[in-house]
Amino acid sequence: ARRVLIDTDPGVDDALAILLALGSQRVSLHGLTIALGNGKDIRDLGSNAKLLLRLSNAAPVPVSLGDDSLATSCEGATVSRKGMEKQLVHGEDNLGNVGAKYGKCDEDYRDFHPLKAPEFIYDVCRRFPGEVSVVCIGPLNNLAEALQQHPDLPELVRDLVRREVLIMGGAFGLRRGNRTPAAEANFYHAPEAAQAVLTAKFKRVVVAGLDVTHQTEMRELRAACVAASPGSVISQFIWDVCETYMNVYHDWGETVAPAHDVVPIMYLLRPELFEAEEVRVEVETAPAALTRGMSIADWKGQWGKEPNCLVVTQIRDVAAFTAAFVAAMARLPL
Ligand code: BDR
Ligand code: CA
Repeated sequence: ARRVLIDTDPGVDDALAILLALGSQRVSLHGLTIALGNGKDIRDLGSNAKLLLRLSNAAPVPVSLGDDSLATSCEGATVSRKGMEKQLVHGEDNLGNVGAKYGKCDEDYRDFHPLKAPEFIYDVCRRFPGEVSVVCIGPLNNLAEALQQHPDLPELVRDLVRREVLIMGGAFGLRRGNRTPAAEANFYHAPEAAQAVLTAKFKRVVVAGLDVTHQTEMRELRAACVAASPGSVISQFIWDVCETYMNVYHDWGETVAPAHDVVPIMYLLRPELFEAEEVRVEVETAPAALTRGMSIADWKGQWGKEPNCLVVTQIRDVAAFTAAFVAAMARLPL
């Protein structure tokens, strides 16, 4: 099994992604590190991570918190649309308002790992040099901070040629932004961190942006899970946790509610299910720009720079994607 770290701001689609990793035989999860993005309270997001681990009966997996002083740059996953109230996509508790039903409680707020997330990431990569895959499904502050403190980090992550940093962030096709007209939420919340990670010495990083994540359908995934394992606690949880998120996307007039964060985890497990292209990607960091946080892919090589990313452009086989997700959920013990 591959050694994996997931850096996350759990989050409804983060929850599905984490469960996918926990249900896969190919993953040995070495930790969940928590970033602010969805949600403003790092301990509350950490408690969501703990709830998921408990629900899936996982062997102890450390949860390490990132910095909570970045809260001012994050306003939770709200999006304003003309004529509409701001809506919390992930619910008040970032688990579609069903956390309490599944036992989210104050106890979850204890026992986080003593190392802060950037140090934790470095520590795990140093203990298993060349073996750890890092999957980032929230704003990239933790990995960027780890890089700043430890410039040797890129040499420690798993075989660079195999591209073992995987990110949900940005947008590369016609669909530009969800947090602003230009920017996807994870990149918008921490554009400097995103730019630092993409231009670090990882050489190549797998990036799944909005255009590919919108090829997934949360409604499909949850229906398939319930059909495969009716009555299991995990399928009931998946059913419940998705509801608010799907309704908000529906209210926004979107035809599907995407399971964004599932994509990089699935790419790690089953890269053959996707099409991807090498390209140079950079992120706009100008403070006052309308395009702050926008990802720009130089498809024609006009900057004359080496490609730094493998951008996932297409799910080749949506049915196989769904089947792989369902199979992983069915492997979870409850
Ligand atoms: C990203 O933003 C968050 O709301 C989701 O969890 C996902 O990581 C999508 O833009
Ligand atoms: Ca996320």
